[in-house]
Amino acid sequence: MPETHYIEGSGWRTGVLVDPDPRPVTAPKLMPTHGEYPIYDATLYDPMTTDTERTWRFREALERYAPDRVVLDIGTGSYLFWARESLRAGAGRVIAMETMQGSYDAASRALESLDDGDRVTLLHGESTTLVIEQKAELCVAEIIGSLASAEGAAAVLADAKRRHLTPDAAIIPDVCSTRAAAVSFAGLFAGRVPAFSPDALPQLQRIFDWNGGPFDVRLRIADPAPDGIMSDHAAVERLEFNGNLRAEQASQVRLTIDRPGVADGILTWLVIQCLPDQKPLDALRDQTNWASIYLPLFDTGVPVTAGDTVDLSFGSVLSEDGVHPDYHISAELRTAHGVHRAEHASLYQRGGRHSHPLYRTLLP
Ligand SMILES: C[S@@+](CC[C@H](N)C(=O)[O-])C[C@H]1O[C@@H](n2cnc3c(N)ncnc32)[C@H](O)[C@@H]1O
Repeated sequence: MPETHYIEGSGWRTGVLVDPDPRPVTAPKLMPTHGEYPIYDATLYDPMTTDTERTWRFREALERYAPDRVVLDIGTGSYLFWARESLRAGAGRVIAMETMQGSYDAASRALESLDDGDRVTLLHGESTTLVIEQKAELCVAEIIGSLASAEGAAAVLADAKRRHLTPDAAIIPDVCSTRAAAVSFAGLFAGRVPAFSPDALPQLQRIFDWNGGPFDVRLRIADPAPDGIMSDHAAVERLEFNGNLRAEQASQVRLTIDRPGVADGILTWLVIQCLPDQKPLDALRDQTNWASIYLPLFDTGVPVTAGDTVDLSFGSVLSEDGVHPDYHISAELRTAHGVHRAEHASLYQRGGRHSHPLYRTLLP
């Protein structure tokens, strides 16, 4: 049975509902989103480096573009992962940037033991403030979230195009989109009582410390049960890194309910491709470290039946830092019994508290 744990920091304290029972390997797992926060450590880097669906796609693009080029690796992490892959693919030189101090220090140590480390220049800081002398001819940046733009990829790469890259430089990945479907949280969670996984506790501690207090952090579900998906799906944002890259977007889509049940929110997930002619990775279908994000809408579930529609507005607006977006979602659900409207703001920082009953349950 879930139990409440308490975490606290300077001037704040919150309960966190945690399910201590071991979860079967494929059961849904609830965590806070983490990619957009400076909390990376080996527990977060390692699942990325072992994500074979991710690796082959980035590697294929590096093999096509990197030979003899100057490559910029934005967000190289502790392991210099794409910097090393770029060298392996034949890059002439690599400039690697990392903003987190601990990750930069680890990357510096990794660089010392690299045979061709003299071809890598490692810089500490945000790519948006760093200055480089020689422009790069290729950029690789895995700063892509389960909501594609959540880690700031659109603003960061727009800046890189302006200041760090030659006019004809390619960017890897090529295109990312966020897809959305109407869902039932209980269905996604396979009827289990909603509660965080125990390993959410240290992540929540670090996110709330960084934020200066608890807030309604985005909810990340790994291995959601397909029974929770109540509608067809549609793209709500599209980042074209080698095309018209927009840092803020607004979209309106209509989702059609395709089974009877209850709908209370939307699930979003990433679709990413590193080359125009490459099979996209779909985070809901493929085995990958990218999970999905549940965004609550209706306070109590609305009974729905096949053919009902959800008119969804989805907007991303850059938050105060000018890099990481806030998301504003509104929905109009039409059923035979009437029209139900709901809104949700999913903020990067200093977000609301208990904006939906689910947050009151999870973070009492
Ligand atoms: C998702 S991890 C990817 C790590 C590694 N590149 C990989 O793919 O395995 C993103 C990394 O980028 C760093 N980062 C994010 N935005 C950055 C920026 N604008 N400039 C430099 N580093 C950034 C984060 O600190 C984190 O280490």
